[in-house]
Amino acid sequence: MTSELVHRLRSDLDSARFTVTTLTGLWGDEADAALHRNERVPALRALARRRAETGVEASATLARLFILGLGVDRDDAAAALPTLGVAGATELGLVTADGAEVRPLLDLRPYSFVDAAGAGSWWIVSDLGELALGRPLGEEHVLGVGGASMTLSGLMMQTPVGSVLDLGTGCGIQAMHAARHSVSVVATDISERALALARINAELNGINNIEFRHGDLFEPVRGERFDQIVSNPPFVITPRSDGVPSYEYRDGGMEGDALVEAVIRGAAAHLHPGGVAQLLGNWEYRVGQDAFRRVGGWVDGTGLDAWVIERDVQDPAQYAETWIRDGGTRSGTPEFERLYTAWLDDFAARRVTSVGFGYITLRMPLDGSPTLRRLERLHGALGSNETGLGVHLAAALAGHDWQAVRSDEELGLAQLIAAPDVTEERHYWPGAEHPTALMLRQGGGFGRTVRMDTGLSALVGASDGDLSVAAVVAAIAQLLDADYLELREELLPRVRALVSDGFLLPPE
Ligand SMILES: C[S@@+](CC[C@H](N)C(=O)[O-])C[C@H]1O[C@@H](n2cnc3c(N)ncnc32)[C@H](O)[C@@H]1O
Repeated sequence: MTSELVHRLRSDLDSARFTVTTLTGLWGDEADAALHRNERVPALRALARRRAETGVEASATLARLFILGLGVDRDDAAAALPTLGVAGATELGLVTADGAEVRPLLDLRPYSFVDAAGAGSWWIVSDLGELALGRPLGEEHVLGVGGASMTLSGLMMQTPVGSVLDLGTGCGIQAMHAARHSVSVVATDISERALALARINAELNGINNIEFRHGDLFEPVRGERFDQIVSNPPFVITPRSDGVPSYEYRDGGMEGDALVEAVIRGAAAHLHPGGVAQLLGNWEYRVGQDAFRRVGGWVDGTGLDAWVIERDVQDPAQYAETWIRDGGTRSGTPEFERLYTAWLDDFAARRVTSVGFGYITLRMPLDGSPTLRRLERLHGALGSNETGLGVHLAAALAGHDWQAVRSDEELGLAQLIAAPDVTEERHYWPGAEHPTALMLRQGGGFGRTVRMDTGLSALVGASDGDLSVAAVVAAIAQLLDADYLELREELLPRVRALVSDGFLLPPE
């Protein structure tokens, strides 16, 4: 019966054109931005104006109910859900009807995206947020698509694979994305409620290659291996003291950053050779201990390639404020200050000085030992990645693999091509004939900037796929009146780095 109801819901949402574009059309960009800040007054005013002008619209009713979290007239609800009806919506757990009013029990909103396969649009059911509830979230809250969800789905490599594991699936968003480039997905969660909503989401959007399993971390997939693992795990560092809420959606129940370590170590036993795990995480910096030494230690002994990118770092106070607010507790209240104290006590107990956030990519080598161990801090703006950063990550890994197995002689024979998003910047002192700085900039990917000298600049400029690296180096040596072997020794390690970072592309 649930299946039938979900199909009717899909048909009603379709008829109402309940899309991201419709919503922006209903209330405009300013109200949209206010909603991102958890404020609904501008959207409500826009809906009221529109109703006065055009009368009742199904999309506006659905938006008021499921996004703004407010009651609507029973007749309006019935008109907006003509095939499902108020009774069907009640049976699905979406609403509760009380006399002439229908109130929401779940959040339901459109979600649109672009990936390597093209543009797509889904509807996502999750628990009502703090805005609709008007109070802090419950500990069993099932998260909708948030900032971290979109970070991970953007990062997800989209190379076609057989099997994917989404660990901690929540509303199912990562599993649904993974289902687009894989034969089958296993999505797990410790929350039965999350799994129930994720099943509805998959069905609502016509996705049928996801299997949902209940259990703690890797327990539901014991003995199984996958081509790809993705996880936005409950990595938030939360004090383990009485009276501090432990939200299932973000708090893995371990001390400090131990949950991230557990996911990293667990991944090793669940990847096929060549398989990749991608996760988000937090890591603690402690007095006298750089966080990267600890993260590197978590990877030690797993036999995995590892590429860790720190995107941000917060001091304990900023971190505590971020996550107490995220749970819906308002600052300036006694409760906020009580929780703030608990957070700072917890950090002080482990002598934490700051907390890093970032992306972790792990890979089981196809054979032999790991060849990649890269931990870097990239706190600035990313490049532009229309179809997701994951496309760049996969290309960068392929670039690394290509150069790592080649000797200097073999690299010298290759005909490399400068990537199309690469530009060069030259800075001059006013009136100077020669530049004081040469920079290579990447338009996509991580938007990296590399400082160059004339030799490297000439090499990248001449990399059009016709001449071998060795031939280009020989020509540059002649031009600069430099020793060929010395120049080659200087340039080849830089060429390797540029290939690994996607500035220079290996031949097809
Ligand atoms: C941050 S949410 C991520 C949800 C979703 N994958 C996304 O990207 O938006 C983390 C999820 O992990 C689940 N979770 C928490 N502890 C877990 C555990 N020990 N084992 C498996 N899943 C867990 C939570 O219920 C929650 O759904």
